[in-house]
Amino acid sequence: MNYMGIENRKLERVGDRLNILLASYSVYYQNLRSFHWHIQGQNFFDIHKLFEDLYNDAKVKIDDIAERILTINQKPFGSMAVYLQYSRIKESRDIMIDQKMVSTILKNHSKLILLMRETIKEASEVGDEGTVDMIGGFLSSLEKKSWILNAWKNRTKIRLT
Ligand SMILES: [Fe+2]
Repeated sequence: MNYMGIENRKLERVGDRLNILLASYSVYYQNLRSFHWHIQGQNFFDIHKLFEDLYNDAKVKIDDIAERILTINQKPFGSMAVYLQYSRIKESRDIMIDQKMVSTILKNHSKLILLMRETIKEASEVGDEGTVDMIGGFLSSLEKKSWILNAWKNRTKIRLT
């Protein structure tokens, strides 16, 4: 039964956007895990914990995005190979110091923020307010996390110079 009350061909467009977001979030999640393990530098303890908080948050959101795709009668991507193919975020393989890692995560956030705005626009066009509401909440939460990371980065830079 089509309980959504929106034509499936319209929901497919939203599902495509959500799948790109799911793929990008999954690569971002793995970047955070790798950074949590490999962090070096004088701010090890602060940032080691901060990355753990961020990946725990991302884990919940990844599940919510996949289940939203199912809710709108579409199919979520489930393979790492497909995630890497569709992600707008690149895997970070290099070992970096704390400042560089925070900059990389901030750039990952910028990509996710843009992608969320695109998803909201698409969902809004087809009248899928449930997706607009969910991704809108994710968007403001990620914007706030970016503000905190950016404040840390600026403060650390001032202290180092
Ligand atoms: Fe850990």
